[in-house]
This record gives sequence, C-alpha cells and structure tokens, in this order.
Amino acid sequence: MSMRDPLYEEERTVLTGGPEADVSKHVAVIMDGSGRWAKERGMPRFAGHKEGVATVVKVVKAAVDRSVEVLTLYTFSTENWKRPKAEIEFILKLPKEFLGVHLPELMANNVRIEVIGDMGKLPVATRKAIQYAMDRTRHNNGLQLNFALNYGSRQEMLVAMKAVFEDLNQQKLSLDDLDEQQFSKYLYTADTTEPDLLIRTGGEKRLSNFLLWQLAYTEFWFSDVLWPDFTEQNFLDALEAYGQRKRRYGGV
Ligand code: IPE
Ligand code: IPE
Ligand code: MG
Repeated sequence: MSMRDPLYEEERTVLTGGPEADVSKHVAVIMDGSGRWAKERGMPRFAGHKEGVATVVKVVKAAVDRSVEVLTLYTFSTENWKRPKAEIEFILKLPKEFLGVHLPELMANNVRIEVIGDMGKLPVATRKAIQYAMDRTRHNNGLQLNFALNYGSRQEMLVAMKAVFEDLNQQKLSLDDLDEQQFSKYLYTADTTEPDLLIRTGGEKRLSNFLLWQLAYTEFWFSDVLWPDFTEQNFLDALEAYGQRKRRYGGV
C-alpha cells in the first residue's frame, strides 16, 4: 500500500482533469453475498465469510492507495443475531483473526481503526482484540477504517434519542439548540463525515438498517458481484462512477 502516492496524484490529474474532480472521501460498503458464494460452490456458509476477509484486505488496500479518507464496512448487523449460533460465532471471531494478521500492515499504512455499533454484546476476545487495535491506531491519521459491528441504524437512533432526552432533562441541551448537526453528534458517527458513496455487493437493492440518517444524500452503487468475488477493479469502478455523478442536495 502506498499512501498519497505522488504518481497517483499525477495520474488522477491526467485521468479526471484535476485534483478538484469529485473524489469520494467516505465510502460505506454493505459487504453482502458471502453465504451465496459458498453455497454456489457446495461449501458451508462460513467458508464464504472466511473468503470475504480476503476481499476486505483488498478493498482496504485500494482505499489507502486511492486516498479515501473514511471506509465504513458493514460487518455484522443487529438483525444478524437471527442466524444460526455457529455462523454468528464464526463471523464474530473474524475481526480478531483479521487484526491478528493485518494489524502491523494497517499500522504501517497509517490506518486508524474504529467501530460503530454496540460492542458490549460481542464476544470478550473479539472486543479485546478490537479495543487493542483501536488503541494502537488511535494516533494514525491516514484512512479511518470503521467496522460496523452489531450495528443497526434504528438502534443507533434510539440510543441517540434517549441520550438527547437525558441531556434535555439535565439541561445540558436546550430544545432550541437541537438541530440536525446537534443530533448527529449523538450518533456513533459523531466525528465522521457522512458517506459520499455507498456500495452494496451481492445483488440486493436495500439498506438493511445501515446508516439510515447518514445516507440521506449519499450516492448509491449496487453490484451483483458476491463479496468474496469483489475485486479492487470493482471498487475502482464504483469510485469512477461516483466521479460522474452530479450531486445537487436538493438544489438545481
Ligand atoms: C454478508 O453476507 C455478511 C454478513 C451478513 C455477516 P451474507 O452472509 O449475508 O451472504 P448472503 O447474502 O447470505 O449470500
Ligand atoms: C446486511 O446483509 C448486513 C451485512 C452485510 C453485515 P444481510 O444479508 O444481513 O441483509 P439482508 O438480510 O439481505 O437484508
Ligand atoms: Mg446477505
């Protein structure tokens, strides 16, 4: 991985007509299709999840190379607890395995790791590994890599609303001051820009309770490619497509 490679800057200027061209700073990804990928091969679903980790490595590398500022990966939803226990356990062990192998490389590439979601319900070993990685990478100022883990947008908003009511009650906040910007500060994404681009792999066209507030004006890009088959080129295609979009935010 090369951070902010000068050659890349030059290439981008040539290809897109200049550094002012529209570049997605925050990319959010719904990494879907791993179970079907395995099923197509007559393999158990967990084999798809394992293979999906390799795609995470590729996409993080591509994001670093392309100077993406924030990458938010939907890893486990609040609804995924409905799955068989063995599959849940397998998925929730993957962050520790991933960090065990890749943390040195992430450090070397100046990546900062964060989590959005309720970490409290994750297995202790997973929580410890993530906490360690967050502490280790806290001062890195390259790519911010957010894992949405036990994340659900409705749960996030409920937690936020309860905190708002509490602050109103305790007069730390006045109702007159409560606007969109203030409310945003109560979400897991408080210190993060809203996604510019949302990618969903695996063919489904839905949000599945992901960042409902934050995606209000985000550009969507859907791919039928199953997550374990998703390539760096697919990711670059999405960034390229984003560069062609005209964002109006309700204006003309
Ligand atoms: C997404 O892949 C990963 C998680 C939800 C953890 P799926 O496991 O949903 O794969 P499909 O959609 O069943 O193929
Ligand atoms: C969304 O995928 C959650 C993650 C990718 C972590 P799901 O596979 O859970 O979504 P649905 O069930 O198809 O909506
Ligand atoms: Mg799925």
